[in-house]
Amino acid sequence: MLEIGFAKPTLPRSGALILLVGEGDKPAGLWAEADAATHGAIARAFSAAEFKGGKGKTCTILAPGGDLTRVVAVGLGKTAELTPRTLQDAGGHAAAAIARDTTAAIAADTLQPGQAAEVALGAALRAYRFDRYRTKEKAEDKPRLSALTLLNADPAAAQSAWQPLAGVAKGVFLTRDLVSEPPNVLNPAEMADRCRTLIKLGVEVEILGPNEMRELGFGALLGVAQGSVNEPRMVVMKWNGGGTAKPVAFIGKGVTFDTGGISIKPAGGMEDMKWDMAGAGAVVGLMAALAGRKAKVNAVGLVGLVENMPSGSAQRPGDVVKSYSGQTIEVINTDAEGRLVLADVVWYCQQKFDPQFMVDLATLTGAIIISLGHEHAGLFSNDDALSEKLIAAGKDTGEKLWRMPLDEAYDKQIKSEIADMKNIGGRPGGSITAAQFIKRFVNDKPWAHLDIAGMAWSTKDNAVTPKGATAFGVRLLDRLMAAHYEG
Ligand code: BES
Ligand code: MN
Ligand code: ZN
Repeated sequence: MLEIGFAKPTLPRSGALILLVGEGDKPAGLWAEADAATHGAIARAFSAAEFKGGKGKTCTILAPGGDLTRVVAVGLGKTAELTPRTLQDAGGHAAAAIARDTTAAIAADTLQPGQAAEVALGAALRAYRFDRYRTKEKAEDKPRLSALTLLNADPAAAQSAWQPLAGVAKGVFLTRDLVSEPPNVLNPAEMADRCRTLIKLGVEVEILGPNEMRELGFGALLGVAQGSVNEPRMVVMKWNGGGTAKPVAFIGKGVTFDTGGISIKPAGGMEDMKWDMAGAGAVVGLMAALAGRKAKVNAVGLVGLVENMPSGSAQRPGDVVKSYSGQTIEVINTDAEGRLVLADVVWYCQQKFDPQFMVDLATLTGAIIISLGHEHAGLFSNDDALSEKLIAAGKDTGEKLWRMPLDEAYDKQIKSEIADMKNIGGRPGGSITAAQFIKRFVNDKPWAHLDIAGMAWSTKDNAVTPKGATAFGVRLLDRLMAAHYEG
């Protein structure tokens, strides 16, 4: 991770300097000092580039004087409207602009210490890179930034505000690493092993293998797993930071590779299905974030880990399986496997933990991408209050949710002639019938299902997420906890 430090505001003599400029602001503090030291080069560049501090705009001045490699101004928009998110985005834009410098400083001297820490979070999140498998990249092609200093009047206060945010960033990075790993490396057993790394953060980790799950009667999850030589796992993670309160529960779909099974997917783009465990990845990263910042909450995270493969032992279309809840399911399409995995894990979670509420995350349907594209995850819930809190947390973090309907009228689409239900409901409302299916494994408990198929992976850079695994859900649910369930 990018090394983040805080220091008193003094104008750096070398490296890169970032200025955070609000719309209509007049030069002050380090900005004014830097302009004077460069004999007005900054003011001249702003005017030539028509840079006025608009949100998300940047202006770069190369070799402006002394040993400074560059000054980058990042626009904040109207300073009266500053939010943590704007500050994080500015930090993200800054990190992208200075990737080629080894050391850089951000002039955060006109900000509060807590605001400086938010800028640091954005920079750290954007500077992430998964390069474990690159062996031949030339040094000059690699991003070089390794240390970033934020200049603020109260560096000690900024540092303590940064402490919990660093915990969240580490959780995000864990998720991004898991989601980025290739599927030959990250199979269910390997992913379960990586969950064990949470033990050192104080998380209790319990791993169930196929024998334990068979004994419990996880017929739906095991049916998906039976075609693969890589055995399934379920991992239960517990963070007890909240005394005697009932836990909140997070559940993730962890299909480490989804070929579709016997209902096999087309070859084109199938490699994307390595990230079909992004829901589970987000749950693991979230648990790491909560533990990493010592959140005052009791949380359980459960992930169902399977590989969906075609083989002589694979599940067939037409098979009927018995879920842990006792309900039977006719498997019409082996590619609708996520809901089968969730069915057993959701039921187990409810029986075992009686949580305050449950949130599941799953790259569940291609149909949600047709509905919402890559801007919102689909939110399906039986509880209006929980939905509102989730939507608000989405706005705060930029991990946006859009509520979709649940309605008994859709149930006729998943009616089976032979079993209690079938696992697909046809093309109309494909994400909704998937959610209705999961709902059958939820008792009266408040529950929300997040279909993150369009959000788990990005093909373009965004302010605080470089292209690739986004870790969607980690900051969202961390925020939900911080805003409503702690202390
Ligand atoms: N993992 C997929 C959903 C998916 C598709 C995620 C594209 C990300 C990108 C899921 O298991 C799946 O295959 N769903 C099917 C359901 C259908 C068979 C009812 C789908 O969406 O096509
Ligand atoms: Mn599938
Ligand atoms: Zn899938």
